[in-house]
Amino acid sequence: TGMFTYDPAFTSTASCQSKITYIDGDEGVLEYRGYPIEQLAEKGDFIETCYLLLYGELPTKSQKHDFEERVTHHTMVHEQMTRFFQSFRRDAHPMAVMVAAVGALAAFYHDSTDINDPKQRMIASMRMVAKMPTLAAMAYKYTIGQPFIYPKNSLNFAENFLHMCFAVPCEDYDINPVLADALDKIFILHADHEQNASTSTVRIAGSSGANPFACIAAGIACLWGPAHGGANEAALNMLYEIGTVDRIPEFIDKVKDKNSDVRLMGFGHRVYKNYDPRAKIMQNMCHAVLNETGHGNDPMLKVALELEKIALNDEYFINRKLYPNVDFYSGLTLKAMGFPTSMFTVLFAVARTVGWISQWSEMIEDPQQKIGRPRQLYTGKTRRDYVDMAQRA
Ligand code: CMC
Repeated sequence: TGMFTYDPAFTSTASCQSKITYIDGDEGVLEYRGYPIEQLAEKGDFIETCYLLLYGELPTKSQKHDFEERVTHHTMVHEQMTRFFQSFRRDAHPMAVMVAAVGALAAFYHDSTDINDPKQRMIASMRMVAKMPTLAAMAYKYTIGQPFIYPKNSLNFAENFLHMCFAVPCEDYDINPVLADALDKIFILHADHEQNASTSTVRIAGSSGANPFACIAAGIACLWGPAHGGANEAALNMLYEIGTVDRIPEFIDKVKDKNSDVRLMGFGHRVYKNYDPRAKIMQNMCHAVLNETGHGNDPMLKVALELEKIALNDEYFINRKLYPNVDFYSGLTLKAMGFPTSMFTVLFAVARTVGWISQWSEMIEDPQQKIGRPRQLYTGKTRRDYVDMAQRA
């Protein structure tokens, strides 16, 4: 109609102004609040990154201490939630459980849902960040039939998550510092990524004034898809499907075949057309974790390295500017840590929660904020008269 800009999949529409995350897709740059992801991953930690995303500045020592105390204070979930978990089928996908469990939190915390009160917004934000690992670990424990492990507040964020996932009652569980450190970095790498599909979902859900916990549940639902957060799970499944290095060319041919919809999972990105800076960090971490856990000779690592090499030298991928993204190596790393594939996207959700909630809060504060309401180009039938049943052919 000429009245609206037609931009399917929003490839060229900025939906908001934001001060949180900067990406330059041509140069492979990712910055949180101006700090390069490489520096945050190398020198920082996840809790500090959460503070940075939420408040806009790196914390001082005492601010960090306070923040960590406050987040720790919120790690428990209501005991009643255990019954909620127990009502799921044992073989439920943990992402399905997460969508529901986080949505259910909306029914618990009525004292942090006045979205126009910045203090309540911050409490809701901390609750979200603190409770996600607890819920994620519960989803995991439930599917493997083990008792839930309560959060241990003397541990840091990543250590506590490993503890809740892998400790069992009456047994000592020693946290491997190499794994805890790698997990902390994985959380940093996934913490925010400006207006990706799930973040846009959270913003648009929140733009109606909806409950913040419900908005995050919407984000989790969106993240689940294989084109988005589900790619780490899909990438590892793909490596298994390929199986051995000699079968790579056959698989690549399938990907290139115009008549097939097979994609190289963990490759390509809407914004990064040069390389994904997170993928580089992830690849190094993958080697470190696999060596630490004695998986250095994992045949899937060999397949991944060879697949990457072949794809990076293949015209199909070169012409389309397809490079490995963060998910190409994260699956292998998480698997070596002991997580089943069904938990990979859940871990992504744990990390991304702080980004979602920071973006949600920024949106609420934005004076230009209105309900998100895209328009459409109508391509259906023009007006026609109702036909009585007896006269329909
Ligand atoms: N394997 C093979 N071909 C691909 C791939 C891929 N992974 N990605 C894009 N292409 C081709 C696509 O077929 C198209 O070719 P043609 O022009 O001949 O039709 C061209 O490249 C452009 O693709 P597109 O679908 O228009 O690109 P997009 O920006 O809409 O898609 C993407 C981005 C990430 C959804 C896509 O690259 C993809 O599906 N990748 C695999 C899934 C994946 O790894 N996702 C994780 C993204 S990073 C983490 C996250 O966001 O959660």
